[in-house]
Amino acid sequence: MPRPLVATIDIAALRHNLSVARNCAPGSRVWAVVKANAYGHGLERSMRSFADADGLALIEVDGAASLRQLGWQKRILLLEGFFDATDLQTIVENQLDTVVHSVEQLEMLEQAGLDTRLDVHLKINSGMNRLGFMPPACRAAYQRLRAIPAVRDISFITHFANAEDASNARLPLDEQVQRFHAATQDLPGERCLSNSAADLLHPECVADWVRPGVMLYGGTPAETTAAAFGLQAAMTLNSEIIGIQHIVAGDAVGYGSSFVADRPMTVGVVACGYADGYPRHAPTGTPVVVDGIRTQLIGRVSMDMITVDLTPIAGAHVGSKVILWGKGLPIDEVANAAGTVGYELMCAIAPRVRIVELESNQQD
Ligand SMILES: Cc1ncc(COP(=O)(O)O)c(C=O)c1O
Repeated sequence: MPRPLVATIDIAALRHNLSVARNCAPGSRVWAVVKANAYGHGLERSMRSFADADGLALIEVDGAASLRQLGWQKRILLLEGFFDATDLQTIVENQLDTVVHSVEQLEMLEQAGLDTRLDVHLKINSGMNRLGFMPPACRAAYQRLRAIPAVRDISFITHFANAEDASNARLPLDEQVQRFHAATQDLPGERCLSNSAADLLHPECVADWVRPGVMLYGGTPAETTAAAFGLQAAMTLNSEIIGIQHIVAGDAVGYGSSFVADRPMTVGVVACGYADGYPRHAPTGTPVVVDGIRTQLIGRVSMDMITVDLTPIAGAHVGSKVILWGKGLPIDEVANAAGTVGYELMCAIAPRVRIVELESNQQD
C-alpha cells in the first residue's frame, strides 16, 4: 500500500485561475508561466489546463522543447533566453520566442548566423537589477537586434520588484513603469510588464501581454487572500494520521525535544516531512487541518513525518484525513507561518509525492 501522502491537482482550478488572470487584463494576451515544472504542478498537465492561454513562458530550454513534443502549437517564451549555442539551435528547431537580456546574448545571436527567423523579447532592467539592459542601453540593443537578419519581431519586457507593494520606498511600482516606458518610447513592438501581482492589483500596468504565474496555481503574491481574488487552490496536499501518542505535561516531542507539553496532549503523526517538500523550518503553530478541524504542527519537522496536536479533535484516529495545504487550508497561510511564500511550497513538492489529477472542482 502506498504512503497516504497525495498531492491532488485540480485541473478545473487551473483553468478557472487562468480565466481570472484574463479577466483582470481583458485587452491583453496571456503568457501562462509554467517554469519550475509549472510551479510543481506538472508541465504536461498544466499545458493541457492552460490550452486557452496565448502562450506559455518558462526558463527551461529542454522543458520548452518538451512542450512542443507534447503538441503545444502556440507560442512559447524563454524568460531567460538561451545559455549557449546549443540552446539557440533548440530555439530555432522548436520555434521558440526568446528573451535577450544581456550583451553576451546579443553577441551570441549576432554570431550565430541563423537562417531561420525568430521573435525576440528585449528585456529592460527597470530597477530590479537582476536581468536586463539598463534603460540608456536599450536603444542601442534594439538597433543591434534589428540589424540581425534572423530577428523578426522585437518585443519589450520588464519584471517588477514590488508589484504587491506598489508604494515600496526603495522602488515604487510607478517608478519602474516610467523607466520602462521612457526606455522603450517610440520603439515599435509589443510590451509585457505584469506578473500576477500587477495583473491582480494594477490594471494601469497591463499592456499587450501579461505574464501571470503564481495566481494560476491559486497562490497570491499579495496581502489579500487568494480567495478574495476569486482564485482556487490548484494543489491540495493530503495525508493521514499514521500514529498517535498520548503524552503528559513535561513530555517532549520529536528531534531536539524542542516542543514540551504543558498539559496532557494527544499527538498525531502525519505522513509528510521535509523530504516531501514540507518546509523544515515550519515552527510549532503552523496550521494543519485534521478531519476538517484546524489544529497545529508541534515540534520539529522530520524527513518523513510531522507531529500535530490532536487534543482538540475528538475521535481522531489512525487514518484520520489531514490537509497540509490547499483546499481547506490556504497554501499562503502555511507558507506565512513557515516564514516563506506559497511559491516555494508549490515548487518544492518532491518527486516521491504521488500526484492525483482531479477534473472537477469537488474534492472530499
Ligand atoms: C520574468 C518573470 N515573469 C513572470 C513571472 C511570474 O511571476 P508571478 O508568479 O509572481 O506571477 C516570473 C516569476 O518569477 C518571472 O520571473
